[in-house]
Amino acid sequence: MALAPPDAFQRGVLEIEKFEVNRDYREKLIGVGLLSFKDFFFCKGLTAMREVPGRLTVSVQFEDEMIYLKRHWKKSSPTRKSGPHFEAITEWDNTQALHKDHINVPVPMAYGIGKIGGEAVSFYISKEVKGVQGDHFLRDHKLLDQKRKDFWSQLGVFAKEFHSKGYNHRDFYLCHIFVDVSGDKNLFSLIDLQRVQKRNKFRRRWIVKDLGQLFYSFPDSVSQSDKMRFFKAYRGAKKLSSSDKKLLQHVMQRVERMKSKHGEYLL
Ligand SMILES: Nc1ncnc2c1ncn2[C@@H]1O[C@H](COP(=O)(O)OP(=O)(O)O)[C@@H](O)[C@H]1O
Ligand SMILES: [Mg+2]
Repeated sequence: MALAPPDAFQRGVLEIEKFEVNRDYREKLIGVGLLSFKDFFFCKGLTAMREVPGRLTVSVQFEDEMIYLKRHWKKSSPTRKSGPHFEAITEWDNTQALHKDHINVPVPMAYGIGKIGGEAVSFYISKEVKGVQGDHFLRDHKLLDQKRKDFWSQLGVFAKEFHSKGYNHRDFYLCHIFVDVSGDKNLFSLIDLQRVQKRNKFRRRWIVKDLGQLFYSFPDSVSQSDKMRFFKAYRGAKKLSSSDKKLLQHVMQRVERMKSKHGEYLL
């Protein structure tokens, strides 16, 4: 897998549209060689975390921890009237908004948007969140008794808070929810915020989509009663109303559709 965007970009002329570095980290980022827009955009990562055409996320060593650098260079449709869509600025803005709304998200360190050789490019870099991604956490820990109950009800409360503040994620899989265990508390953090939206209207459709993705990513080993524990905590109810039941039914129908279209969730 690649560790940096294609070499061809190195030869293009850079036009910066926006470029911001979190003041708290400016000095330290310079210390690891990250100062200019080009330093960030062309930085060779340590490990490729995810690569799809036109986007690459890598980890970068930063003192004694990892930081995560996402680069975008996907061509946008030439018919798009509003110009290119820069995912990095969306992720930067979403991170700030969620942080203000007290949802645990990564600390944003820098972002930049612009053009290289006329092509739209952007980057976004964030500090590592605590813990491990939820799907790996459940694969590697056999949760028993009260710990298991706490996990599912606390995850339900976390999802409830996120949705009740008006957000939907659009990639709401367990791999994007990190878990850090502290005593009998599971502290959750949400990552990959480039598709997050805040909306006042037409919420239900988006909530069904998010919950469908989350249930789809639950391991098969999760019992029906833990799923209900999650859902009751999500609804903040001891007993489900008929509208709660209807919502759950729509979510489960969505999960079935996802399974028949994509197969089982891949760990
Ligand atoms: N701030 C972060 N803390 C910990 N891990 C992260 C962080 N940002 C990204 N990652 C890791 O990198 C992977 C890819 O990042 P993500 O934001 O999901 O990019 P993509 O949009 O390409 O899926 C994540 O699934 C996660 O494993
Ligand atoms: Mg992702």
